[in-house]
Amino acid sequence: MSRIAYVNGQYLPHRDASVHIEDRGYQFADGVYEVVTIVGGRMIDEAGHLDRLERSLNELRMDLPMKREPLKFVMREVIRQNGIRDGIIYIQVTRGVAPRDHPFPKDTPSSLVMTAKRLSMERAAKTAEQGISVITVPDIRWARRDIKSVSLLPNVLAKQEAKDKGAYEAFQVDEDGMVTEGSSTNAWIVSQEGKIITRPTSNSILAGITRASLIKELDKNGIELELRSFTVDELHSAREVFLTSSTSYVLPVVKVDDQVIGNGHPGLISQKLRTIYENFMSEDA
Ligand code: PDD
Repeated sequence: MSRIAYVNGQYLPHRDASVHIEDRGYQFADGVYEVVTIVGGRMIDEAGHLDRLERSLNELRMDLPMKREPLKFVMREVIRQNGIRDGIIYIQVTRGVAPRDHPFPKDTPSSLVMTAKRLSMERAAKTAEQGISVITVPDIRWARRDIKSVSLLPNVLAKQEAKDKGAYEAFQVDEDGMVTEGSSTNAWIVSQEGKIITRPTSNSILAGITRASLIKELDKNGIELELRSFTVDELHSAREVFLTSSTSYVLPVVKVDDQVIGNGHPGLISQKLRTIYENFMSEDA
């Protein structure tokens, strides 16, 4: 089945899909995006992602490009036309096409693009079984990390540094030596005392939808959570480390920088939380 992309009202062959060179997303990174996981042909946490999309847009003084119902219809159509059972849908909204000038253009419709792609559940399961390694890097991003902006240069540099060092992810560290989040994931630790810890939401991190759903599941299962920032030292000396995101779900970390975490295998709590999250996904999907 050939890939189809949605671009401003049209379903096009992926290879021919394009936007104008003066799209403000291209010139100013003036736009936002969402990545929604698809399991068994259905979206996980669709409402949460659409809420966050709307919030990100509002923070940039933009509206949803269309009402929610038609937007949901297009999302389903993109998934259907690409024949996706397990994978992701990518949704991007920018402030549209206009002659290059910093202030907002007047009466310019926003650009809406959607793509979808398949992801291998088997490969993801294998990665989770082995656990992954992360590095730490300085967080050099702007002060509004709560907005899911397409301006991802620091994230790109962080992820490339991780890749260069053979790691899966880079956890970013703020000026106070506290971990903010991964380049495309939220960061969690389990302390030596067995406390599950993750940073509270603020302008310093993206309010991950996976993070929020896992927190709800912890609550339902009576598992205690400490919402606070943690230091790089706490990260290095944690009993367990894991990360969350729409594409990684709950992923155990077995090495941080040069420090092996626990016995170098995914920790019991991380594994249990992955199972809890997988069960949540099969109920939600
Ligand atoms: N990334 N933090 C950052 C900086 C992110 O970019 C993401 C998501 C997350 C996790 O959020 P969620 O659980 O809603 O996926 C945290 C997506 C997957 C991406 O950029 O591909």
